[in-house]
Amino acid sequence: MRIVRAKDYNDMSRKAANIISAQVIMKPDCVLGLATGSTPIGTYAQLVEWYKKGDLDFSGITTVNLDEYKGLTKDNDQSYYYFMNDNLFSKVNVNPERTFLPDGTEPDSDKACADYNKIIADVGGIDLQLLGLGHNGHIGFNEPADTFEAETHCVDLTESTIKANQRFFASIDDVPKQAYTMGIKTIMQAKKVLVVVSGEDKAAIIKEAFFGPITPRVQASILQLHSDVTIVADEAALSCLK
Ligand code: F6R
Repeated sequence: MRIVRAKDYNDMSRKAANIISAQVIMKPDCVLGLATGSTPIGTYAQLVEWYKKGDLDFSGITTVNLDEYKGLTKDNDQSYYYFMNDNLFSKVNVNPERTFLPDGTEPDSDKACADYNKIIADVGGIDLQLLGLGHNGHIGFNEPADTFEAETHCVDLTESTIKANQRFFASIDDVPKQAYTMGIKTIMQAKKVLVVVSGEDKAAIIKEAFFGPITPRVQASILQLHSDVTIVADEAALSCLK
């Protein structure tokens, strides 16, 4: 596990974008596992900037996202499809047919999850998985639990996650209560994992996840067992570590 210390959010974003750029340059037909949430927005913005300068070419890549809310359509501005399109896909030359997320509009959870597992298998697995870190240690929507779920599954979001997401919706009743998420085995099978973390509110969980016991109560703690994890975190997020 490598920890890259960044000065602040912008520095974290640039450093993370550098790592993703290196992956795309080294393997132009790579599979990127992508995340939504507020943390990677600056990383995507930096990638877009470098693309516009002519420094990056995304035409050969495939992307698979971690998760999607169940019940939200692609044109809902809170869907993760919308987020990805808004922050990255519509701004670079990625082939839209090579961008994948779980299908939030599929009401049959078993089918949605089986379809997504097949997509991930068909693209040949993930070269680099980008992750954010939830305040409760979740990665994707793998919430604190008694076990680690292996593959794509439908989750009931916890109260704390629903509350954290409330800021994006008109009222708490509009926040989706379920999501489809990639499982922990799939994440662990990514060749490389890049975790971006910013802000003092993540300082306690970063310490717990990466220096505490490995437990499904803190799902990100499993990453301690991955052989190629890079955490890019700003000073505020690292403030509980020496
Ligand atoms: C997003 C995702 C979530 C977020 C996490 C952190 O696709 O899967 O696990 O990465 O909730 O979110 P932010 O970055 O908003 O703090």
